[in-house]
Amino acid sequence: MEMNKNKTVEKDELTGDVLLSGHESDNIRELDNSLPKWWVWLFIITIVWSVGYIFIYDVIEAAPYQQDEWKNEMAAAGSNASGQTVLAADSTLVALADEASLAAGKEIWLKQCKVCHLEGGQGLVGPNLTDNFSIYGCKYFNVVNIIIVGAPEKGMISWKTQLADNQIKQVASFIMTLQGTTPPNPKAPQGEPCK
Ligand code: HEC
Repeated sequence: MEMNKNKTVEKDELTGDVLLSGHESDNIRELDNSLPKWWVWLFIITIVWSVGYIFIYDVIEAAPYQQDEWKNEMAAAGSNASGQTVLAADSTLVALADEASLAAGKEIWLKQCKVCHLEGGQGLVGPNLTDNFSIYGCKYFNVVNIIIVGAPEKGMISWKTQLADNQIKQVASFIMTLQGTTPPNPKAPQGEPCK
C-alpha cells in the first residue's frame, strides 16, 4: 500500500526485527512479528470445524445434541427426561388391591416410611397421608410419582434407587388404603384439598 511505503519502518537495534509503532510501555517495544504458523493453522481449523459442526448439528441435524442424547438414553433405560421411571408418567395407573401386594406395601411402609410419616400415616416430619389434603396430588399416580422423585429439599429422598418399581406400586397402594382413616394425633392438613 502507498501509505506503508512512505512510513519509516522502525527496527530493533540488536535483532533488526520490525517494531510495532505506538506499542510502547516502560521502554519495552512490541515486535511486529507474524503469527506462528501452527497458531494460524489451528485458528483456520477451528473455523472449518465450526462450519462442519453447525452443518451437522443445526442444518442437517444428523447428530443429536448432548441433552437429547441424554434424554434418549434415559428413555431407553425406562425413564423420562426428568429421571422419573415410565411408571410415574402414566396417569392411568391403577392401585393394586390384592392382599399380598398391600401386605408387601405395608411392610415397606413400616420399614422405610414410618419414621417420618408414622405408622398410621398421621404424619410427623412428613405430612399426614390420611386426611383429605395433599401437597403433590391425591391420585394414586401422584403418590407413585412423589415416591419416585421425592422432595429432597423438603426432607424426603427419591426412593427410585431404594425401591423397585413393583415395591413403589405396593407401598403407594398401601398409602391409598390410609386415606380416610383416623389415627391418633394427626398432623394438620398441608397442601390442597383433594377433589
Ligand atoms: C426422612 C423423612 C421421610 C421419610 C423416611 C419418608 N418421607 Fe415421605 N415425605 C417426607 C416429607 C418431609 C414430605 C413432604 C415434602 C413437602 O413438604 O414438600 C413427604 C411427602 C410424602 C408424600 C406426599 C404427601 C403429599 O401431601 O402430597 C408421600 C406420598 C410420601 N411422602 C410417601 C412416602 C413413602 C411411601 C415413604 C417410604 C418409602 C416415605 N414417604 C418416606 C418425609 C419422609
